Amino acid sequence: FQIPIAVNEPVKSYAPGTPEREAVLQQYKAYFNSQVEVPLYIGSEEIFTGNTRSMSPPHDHQHVVGVYHLAEKHHIENAITTALEARTKWAAMPWEERASIFLKAAELIAGPYRAKINAATMIAQSKNVHQAEIDSACELIDFLRFNVQYMGDIYSDQPESSEGIWNRVEYRPLEGFVYAVTPFNFTAIAGNLPTSAALMGNVVVWKPSNNQIFSAKVIMDVLKEAGVPDGVINMVYGDAAMITETLLSSPDFAGIHFTGSTDVFNNLWAKIGTNIGSYKTYPRIVGETGGKDFIVAHPSAHAKQVATAISRGAFEYQGQKCSAASRVYLPKSKADEILSFVKTDIESFKMGSPEDPSNFITAVIHQSSFDKLASYIEQAKKDEDATIYAGGNYDKSKGYFIQPTVIVTTNPKYKTMETELFGPIVTVYVYEDDAWEETLKLVDETSIYALTGAVFSQDRYALSVAMKALQNAAGNFYVNDKPTGAVVGQQPFGGARASGTNDKAGSAQNLLRWVSPRLIKETF
Ligand code: ALA
Repeated sequence: FQIPIAVNEPVKSYAPGTPEREAVLQQYKAYFNSQVEVPLYIGSEEIFTGNTRSMSPPHDHQHVVGVYHLAEKHHIENAITTALEARTKWAAMPWEERASIFLKAAELIAGPYRAKINAATMIAQSKNVHQAEIDSACELIDFLRFNVQYMGDIYSDQPESSEGIWNRVEYRPLEGFVYAVTPFNFTAIAGNLPTSAALMGNVVVWKPSNNQIFSAKVIMDVLKEAGVPDGVINMVYGDAAMITETLLSSPDFAGIHFTGSTDVFNNLWAKIGTNIGSYKTYPRIVGETGGKDFIVAHPSAHAKQVATAISRGAFEYQGQKCSAASRVYLPKSKADEILSFVKTDIESFKMGSPEDPSNFITAVIHQSSFDKLASYIEQAKKDEDATIYAGGNYDKSKGYFIQPTVIVTTNPKYKTMETELFGPIVTVYVYEDDAWEETLKLVDETSIYALTGAVFSQDRYALSVAMKALQNAAGNFYVNDKPTGAVVGQQPFGGARASGTNDKAGSAQNLLRWVSPRLIKETF
């Protein structure tokens, strides 16, 4: 038999008058006026611990849409036991039957759950409807479909045999459980990290970000309806340090699938290192972490193309994509033209609640992010080597709104050229036109992270030099395109240096981290 060939889910338009627009806005209202209770999901049980924290949309922080229930240590211990109990049957299930479950999950999201998962993402993470659609619907569907295809490729990859000898590889799941730690900024990543490990026969304890629980619940509803057996994916929240400590202290901890900040990943890695002698098997450590993603334009670049890449690459979803452009290098001869296009774009962006689909910019995720971003803007207003070229206003009276902001600096090592801000602020450095190679060297030397980057040029020799000079500065390298918006099945995503282990989300390479192959040689 052949597994279905994966195709990318088409992105719906949500134009006025379309049925999808009506459905998502209706669902948005229903969720906004509901009081959702999100329990812990451990095995067949939904546990309402009574110790709760409220959930509010970032664009309307005084409005409560529900609560989630916090775990105590014994719940986490129970999640481990429950996962391990589920493991025997799950690992033994034929892989094509596991595949069917996740293909069904993809179809549920494409159909009956599409409005729900998008509306939940609009509320929880303050995404406009287009950003919700490309993330929580299309990208998550694509992860589920393409991973099934990659799984089929992996299982069919077998060694040569010879006369009288049959060599074969069994792609066994890891011996233990996988801990999935997921971020707020992509519902698709939240869905992918637990399901990719589970697809390969593993059992998972999943801790979503506290700022994504409203949409994480919809993912759990989908997985249950699709037929993921009880205990295979367990979802918990609470004191992150306690949860991590409990899970990483278990001898059955077999791997971590992480997306989040570099600091948190470093701490997790250090803890795993400390416990290393106590595990039954060497754990797999897979992480995608921070970024300080660049756009570099050569004097031959098309000004409008670069400007659009900056406006979209830096400001879509308020710059809260790990792939977002946050430092830009422009040649002196083109800088004014490019920047004035960017300014015009920014001035045309409407800002407000995602309830109104014409709002391009919505709120940043929470108060501490807002405060940090506002303080960088204030500092730039004071610093002699920085100027606010566009934007620079902010207001948190109702929601955490920050105007898209362009800082121009004369110092290529200015703070906001080097620090990951995770918000709608981009910093621009203007270089002399004849300093292309020096500028590339500078970009590489200041790339502590190496997630995404984009180079714009109409001159192939200049591009060729950039490809070489920046070969280690970005795991996803874009030529004449913005550095965001990787599509599953087309641009597998991930970076190295301080950006992670580069185990490309949405690839066979990633899935291979969740199996422990057994080679069987049989002689007749
Ligand atoms: N995969 C996401 C992007 O490329 C982060 O924008």
